[in-house]
Amino acid sequence: MVRFSDRSNSIRPTGVRRMFDMAGDDAVQFGLGEPDFQPPDIAIEAFTNAMRDGRNKYTTTAGLPELREKIAEMWHHRIPTLDGSNVCITMSGTNALLDIFLAIVNPGDKVMIPEPYFPLYPPDVVICGGEPSFYPCKFENGFVPSISDLQDIVDEKTVAILYNFPSNPTGGNVNEEQRDELVEFARENDLWLITDEVYDRIVYDSPHVSFLGAGYDKLVMVQSFSKTFAMTGWRIGYLLSPDPEFMVELTKMQYYVTACSNDAMQHAVLEALEKYPNYPEEMCAEFQTRRDLICERLNSMPGVSCHTPTGAFYVFPKVEIPGMNSEEIALKLLEGGVLCSPGTAFGDAGEGHLRFAYTIGREDISKGMDRVERVLRELRS
Ligand SMILES: Cc1ncc(COP(=O)(O)O)c(C=O)c1O
Repeated sequence: MVRFSDRSNSIRPTGVRRMFDMAGDDAVQFGLGEPDFQPPDIAIEAFTNAMRDGRNKYTTTAGLPELREKIAEMWHHRIPTLDGSNVCITMSGTNALLDIFLAIVNPGDKVMIPEPYFPLYPPDVVICGGEPSFYPCKFENGFVPSISDLQDIVDEKTVAILYNFPSNPTGGNVNEEQRDELVEFARENDLWLITDEVYDRIVYDSPHVSFLGAGYDKLVMVQSFSKTFAMTGWRIGYLLSPDPEFMVELTKMQYYVTACSNDAMQHAVLEALEKYPNYPEEMCAEFQTRRDLICERLNSMPGVSCHTPTGAFYVFPKVEIPGMNSEEIALKLLEGGVLCSPGTAFGDAGEGHLRFAYTIGREDISKGMDRVERVLRELRS
């Protein structure tokens, strides 16, 4: 008899992918969170050249020293003493998250996770033998958690709290005061603070507020070049912690997960960081225009209300159609030629919401919004 592990049996495919697989070719795609841009040309050239130069072998687990030093330098405005030893290159943010949970979670330990959440967080904790406990990020609070909600959930089994700002799926973000309160909560409860900041350079209206260098060093940051340099398919990111002991453990996990990252690609990323450092900001300017367009359209529709996100490239509007849940609405939209994600793909707290990724051109956004407007009007009538 074929038998799989309880771990594997307990994990379901994500709702985002399920919708994606059902979409027809002519659907307007607000589904997947990946930039419709290409990586900078100089990075592609550097990648090709590095392969031609023979950089096709295993490399050190923590990654290319020059790249690690460069990344540490990029964070000197938060902690001036960081150096390459505080950085471990990974094969994506996804890989980085798994390393962290492998390093800190014992069977039965709890990790506090935001809800709505990036769909990989809870299964990752489960894979590592832990238990996710969910804290709410509510629409009425701009998707920022309240300290009293966190206090209600934390218990003696809780070892870590994960914050994700700017957030996928909500586009929510913190100001400095909110960040400081959240850091204080982690300190008071002696928790590992995991900060997923993969959208740090896709921010609008005000500069990114990092949890790094906010006075609490029992912290690890998850980072990725997927979103900021449009390298989703390359699979490269990094872990950064001010705690040297933690870096040793994380690097050990990285070895057993993938041995090392891709050598040629690391040279390409270094080239992009050195020669085209403002590439993310150029992309971000376009995302901001799209954000304004999609928020204006959605907020003009009856029964729909959304916050204007201050980061990432998602809107997470409340969409109310009497008698229908978010999955049913998303399926009706799919029939009407629009792919978006039901809020429940990001946890039960996402009920009543849809997620739209504005990672398509302005014309397609307008076309998609026309369709959304028509379908919702029909459903309401
Ligand atoms: C919040 C968040 N963290 C991490 C990741 C992982 O990104 P990647 O594995 O492409 O680096 C994503 C991707 O969508 C994300 O939205």
